[in-house]
Amino acid sequence: MEFKATNTSPLDWSGDVLALGLFDDQVELTGDFATLDEKLAGTLKELMEETEFKAKTDSNISTRVGGNSLIRKVILVGLGQRDKLQLDTLRRAAASIAKTAKSLKAKTVGVSLPIFETAEATAQAITEGVELALYQDTRFKSEPDEKGHGITQIELLGLAGTESAITRAQNICSGVILARELVAAPANEINPITMADMAKDLATTYGFELNILEKEDCEKLGMGAFLGVAQASDLPPKFIHLIYRPQGTPRRKLAIIGKGLTFDSGGLNLKTSGSGIEMMKMDMGGAAATFGAAKVIGQLKPDVEVHFISAVTENMISGHAMHPGDFLKASNGKTIEVNNTDAEGRLTLADALVFADKLGVDAMIDLATLTGACIIALGDDIAGLWSPDDTLAQELETAAKTSGEKLWRMPLEEKYFEGLKAMHADMKNTGPRAGGSITAALFLKQFVEKTPWAHLDVAGPVWTDKDNGYHSAGATGYGVRLLVNWVMS
Ligand code: BES
Ligand code: MN
Ligand code: ZN
Repeated sequence: MEFKATNTSPLDWSGDVLALGLFDDQVELTGDFATLDEKLAGTLKELMEETEFKAKTDSNISTRVGGNSLIRKVILVGLGQRDKLQLDTLRRAAASIAKTAKSLKAKTVGVSLPIFETAEATAQAITEGVELALYQDTRFKSEPDEKGHGITQIELLGLAGTESAITRAQNICSGVILARELVAAPANEINPITMADMAKDLATTYGFELNILEKEDCEKLGMGAFLGVAQASDLPPKFIHLIYRPQGTPRRKLAIIGKGLTFDSGGLNLKTSGSGIEMMKMDMGGAAATFGAAKVIGQLKPDVEVHFISAVTENMISGHAMHPGDFLKASNGKTIEVNNTDAEGRLTLADALVFADKLGVDAMIDLATLTGACIIALGDDIAGLWSPDDTLAQELETAAKTSGEKLWRMPLEEKYFEGLKAMHADMKNTGPRAGGSITAALFLKQFVEKTPWAHLDVAGPVWTDKDNGYHSAGATGYGVRLLVNWVMS
């Protein structure tokens, strides 16, 4: 599928399917729309009346065009209120166009959507919407999927000169798709060893520096919290540290840390049936976003140094498993009473944060499928954001607004740390049920000393059970685009 940016008018474009975006104040068809409708012998007006089309967001209608017109079919996609237009409206409209064009068996598609802010941003959003909506994960199907699309060319009308924005969008989508594929692959495909292999591939392809700390290396660094989680698995833990260094002096140095539990059984506080244990392959969604972002950064090559980090392991049960109640010592010397082995993500992150804090970066952010409590608080589509640093929090909010990935700032309510006080150790790893995502964030904070830090709880948005705009059901690749925006900003 090829993208082309031209200044061809929708009135002159010829091809299989012409797709037009309409605001709700345009249903009367004036200007170019009226001219086009005349050319099509009133087809647009008739279609809109028949379907009572009001141009609401996420609505679309389509029809075949008769006679000897330049086009065979037309799609009208609703953009809603003009003053509510966002980049994500365009991304979703493009996704809806792509999916409809696919079902109409189109080969060539002309897309005419209004410009939001700049032609570049618009072309990027449209390309992302199309690419992400059409992506299908067929890696594990024995028969090739017949439902694949036959679209060969997407022409962005009125957006001539935006070729580099289109390429950037394609680079970004390759990272989102890597993240989706990592999350969707089950725990018997993606484990600490294959994650490390994947990181090696990224390092080879993009010339990254790669350090993989083996169990013995982690022992030497005193990473008792991470290793406690890893100790019941038959597979060795891998602490992955991938580094992108720009040519010349970096403008900024950043670290991105992803929770990398390739499977979370809960440990001896075993997840029960109905708890979604069979979905716990997705517990490396933070690491997936981290490495997805690395893939994009390797292509975009910004003047920023970025460290991509994940302490990768499984949380399993065996005779070697942590006992509930065990004390662990993290690499900053703090001791933890593991009153629940299912709160394992924060244990692995503790040592990863201590490690990243020592790198001397300007800021660090962790992404983690950390708590069910965050899903209860914010639902499936919105990540929680915690940070003691207002500037960093605002940078992330801006990055997320542009990418259309939703997040909401949550309080680091220090008083709630009371709930983590332990009798003999420095802290417990879980507190009361109430405010569970906040105490999780406060726990992480104990392992950050000097670097500006933010935590994103992505337990909800890394997965979707139903089709949702440019995400089909399954792994969403959440986080990659906002991370890239943040690094590039
Ligand atoms: N990986 C889970 C959190 C999770 C739940 C992610 C659902 C995605 C969907 C995490 O390790 C966990 O088990 N958290 C516990 C913490 C509790 C024991 C304090 C939880 O949320 O129940
Ligand atoms: Mn758990
Ligand atoms: Zn987990």
